[in-house]
Amino acid sequence: MENRARIVTEIVRRIKEQAGAEFPILVKLNATDGFRPNSQRADMGIEISQAIETAKILEKAGVCGIEVSGGMSKTSGETIRLAINSPTKEAYFREYSKAIKKAVNIPVILVGGIRSLSVMEHLLENGFVEMVSMSRTFICEPDFVLQLKSRKTTKARCVSCNLCFDIEGIKCNFEFN
Ligand SMILES: Cc1cc2nc3c(=O)[nH]c(=O)nc-3n(C[C@H](O)[C@H](O)[C@H](O)COP(=O)(O)O)c2cc1C
Ligand code: SF4
Repeated sequence: MENRARIVTEIVRRIKEQAGAEFPILVKLNATDGFRPNSQRADMGIEISQAIETAKILEKAGVCGIEVSGGMSKTSGETIRLAINSPTKEAYFREYSKAIKKAVNIPVILVGGIRSLSVMEHLLENGFVEMVSMSRTFICEPDFVLQLKSRKTTKARCVSCNLCFDIEGIKCNFEFN
C-alpha cells in the first residue's frame, strides 16, 4: 500500500516544500473502484480495507482532509449514480466514509448523491462524516448553499441524470418543467 500511495505522498511532500507545511491539502480518495478482486493479481483494484490503509498513509503524510468517493467509469461497479430520487438513495458511499472516519483523526468529507438537508444532518450527527460535498447539484444550482442557509429550499433540484457530461461544455441539460 505504501508503494501504491507513493505518487500521492510524493506530491503532498513537494506541495508542502513549495507552499509551506501549513498549506491545506485535501485528497479525494476512492473507497472502492469497482474492479472485481483478482486472485492472481492482488495488486488489482481497491477495496475498502485498502482504502483505509491509504487514508492512514495520507494522514501520516500531512493531508488535512479526505473526501471519500468511489467507482470508475470503466468498471461495472460503483460510479456516478443515476436517479437519486429518494433520501435512501442519497449519500451512497456513506458506509465507506464511516469506516474511514473511524480509522483517521483528520476530517472526512463525503461526496456522491447528497441532495437533502435532512440527509446532510443525519450524516453529520451520526458519525458518518465531518463535512459533506456535492458536485452535480452545483452545476444545476450554483447558489444551493445560500438557498439552504436561507431555508429557501431543503432539497436540491438536480435529478442525477448525468446529462451534464456534455462534450460541448459542462452545463445542466435537464429540462425542468
Ligand atoms: C461533469 C462532471 C465532471 C466530473 N469530473 C470529475 C473529475 O475530473 N474527477 C473526479 O474525481 N470526479 C469528477 N466528477 C465526479 C464528482 O466530483 C462527484 O464525485 C460525483 O459527481 C458524485 O457527486 P454528486 O452526486 O454530488 O454529483 C465529475 C462529475 C461531473 C458531474
Ligand atoms: S444535467 Fe442537471 S439535473 Fe441532470 S445530473 Fe446534471 S446537473 Fe443534475
